Amino acid sequence: MNTSTFSPSSILVTGGAGFIGSNFVRAWIEERPACRITVLDKLTYAGNLENLADLEGKYSFIKGDICDEETVRRALAEHEVDTVIHFAAESHVDRSILGPMVFTHTNVMGTHVMLEESRKHGVKRFVHVSTDEVYGSLGPEGSFTEQSPIDPTSPYAASKAASDLVVQSYIKTFDFPAMITRCSNNYGPWQFPEKLIPLMLTNAMNDRALPVYGDGMNVRDWIHTRDHSRAVMRVLEAGTPGEVYNVGSSNEWPNIDIVKLILKTLGKPESLITYVKDRPAHDRRYAIDSSKIERELGWKAEIGFDDGIAETIAWYQSKQDWLARVMSGEYMEYYDKQYSER
Ligand code: NAD
Ligand code: TYD
Repeated sequence: MNTSTFSPSSILVTGGAGFIGSNFVRAWIEERPACRITVLDKLTYAGNLENLADLEGKYSFIKGDICDEETVRRALAEHEVDTVIHFAAESHVDRSILGPMVFTHTNVMGTHVMLEESRKHGVKRFVHVSTDEVYGSLGPEGSFTEQSPIDPTSPYAASKAASDLVVQSYIKTFDFPAMITRCSNNYGPWQFPEKLIPLMLTNAMNDRALPVYGDGMNVRDWIHTRDHSRAVMRVLEAGTPGEVYNVGSSNEWPNIDIVKLILKTLGKPESLITYVKDRPAHDRRYAIDSSKIERELGWKAEIGFDDGIAETIAWYQSKQDWLARVMSGEYMEYYDKQYSER
């Protein structure tokens, strides 16, 4: 196991006002209070400073676009950044089918700008937060390892795969000290209610139909976002530059079982379940082999699904105000476009 550790003095977190980014910022401030931390976020529909409200005064914030070279250059220089954790992205598969171009722009061009400006600035560590979706779809057996072929199916996954390749070119060409993490599906507090778990939760709480794609038997491997944050911290501090680390918690669920679990916990009837037209190119199954990060960096998921999902459901029940705010306006337009003709 690698015991040497890197200790950053000033980190820049892109996408820190989104779901996983805000959970990471909270965890980092709790665990590493002495380190300077700056969040760079464009505050798209998915980014919300309310996600960080309890941390005010403990981090610096820049509202800006990762595709804008000048913004990134100034953020790195003015905050004397030595370490970048790159979460910012367009992140929802269904939106990438409705409007793919912004995915390539933000995820590929934005990552390239982050890399180039970080290289010129002399950043010492760069963690690129990627996804297991770059590997495509699995059959009923096996799991993705870091050696699995890159075979994305959605415009979202393709844009993340392309960004991973740009990162790898910087590692090889410039000896740039980047590392890539590829994590499975996250759940937990502050997830925007367009993704499976919070969407089904909010619909069930409001007695609305729960739109299950296809036969409901697509399988996802769920990890609590706090476990993902711990993995990113571990990679940043103990990972080997140039390496890829898969992150997962061996917790596979067919979608329909998650939906039924949510209904049961909320005491709502299964008659709310509505099978709708499938997502195009819908990946059948994801499963992650995390043995490399477990063996080399001593990381392991710690939050059991029973506890994690119960805590998450209770959190959403207590956050009706936040939900009402993030679901107003743009979200309803998206919802109609996505679900009205299915
Ligand atoms: P999210 O959509 O909740 O948050 C994305 C954040 O990025 C938002 O705060 C948004 O405002 C910001 N952003 C978007 N475009 C930007 C731009 N041009 N400039 C600056 N900021 C911008 O996403 P998430 O679910 O928190 O995912 C974060 C990262 O983790 C993504 O890179 C995603 O690919 C990856 N990931 C997500 C999951 C998952 O299950 N959600 C799993 C594995 C990896
Ligand atoms: P999602 O949360 O969008 O994550 P991803 O597609 O990146 O894995 O979807 C998780 C699973 O839930 C996926 O198989 C698609 C399915 N799904 C539905 O059945 N209905 C829905 O309304 C949504 C949003 C997802």
